[in-house]
Amino acid sequence: MRRALVAGNWKLNGSLATIQPLIKTILAGIERIQQAEIAVCPPYIYLPAVQAMLMGSPIAVGAQDVSDQDSGAFTGEVSAPMLRDFGVRYCIVGHSERRHIYGENDALTARKFAAARRSELWPILCVGELLEEREQGNTEQVVARQLDAVIHLEGISAFRDAVIAYEPVWAIGTGKTATPEQAQAVHAFIRQRLAAQDKRIAENVRILYGGSVKADNASKLFSQPDVDGGLIGGASLKSGEFLAICGAA
Ligand code: PGA
Repeated sequence: MRRALVAGNWKLNGSLATIQPLIKTILAGIERIQQAEIAVCPPYIYLPAVQAMLMGSPIAVGAQDVSDQDSGAFTGEVSAPMLRDFGVRYCIVGHSERRHIYGENDALTARKFAAARRSELWPILCVGELLEEREQGNTEQVVARQLDAVIHLEGISAFRDAVIAYEPVWAIGTGKTATPEQAQAVHAFIRQRLAAQDKRIAENVRILYGGSVKADNASKLFSQPDVDGGLIGGASLKSGEFLAICGAA
């Protein structure tokens, strides 16, 4: 049985003044949510503050990115051992905004995935196609390439302690959610691709959907057999909306 995970990706949003009431209201509502595991991924600078506020609660903390290096002369980077130091459990790697705005390729994403695992963080590997790739019928090819880069570097067993998030780029922040059927088709493809190498790992790995998930479309998406929760951007900044999505998982 896979336990659903709902992770809030705050992106480059928030301030000390806004995250305190946000966390407070999420904590107040969380007792009603029994089934899903919940995580929030604030910007790096707020991780210690958020971790302190969540201490003793069932909500996990994640980072939005990680360096591929553990230490050294890499100005501006934050490493997996540093994240571990602050009790971080998850870290997003290969988010489409990293890939498409900052030019991070499959090889760098795979090294970040490896760095996270070296420090016993759980990577949340984001994969997903651009609109033109979908329109050209290349969705599976793109997602396979993104997955294979990690499998080649780390081996299939790496997915024992990792999460995958399918996030079609055309659905992120656009209000255009994939239909439950479109999401399910790609999630099933991802699981089959992993199963070709290891059935048990494929059966156990959680595959989240991300891209304009809202309170009113979450339950249909999450009821698909291969959708094991969500990676939530915009809606994770509104406590009521986020709690409703967590409740749907
Ligand atoms: P969105 O973002 O929910 O705002 O579409 C999802 C994501 O980028 O992880």
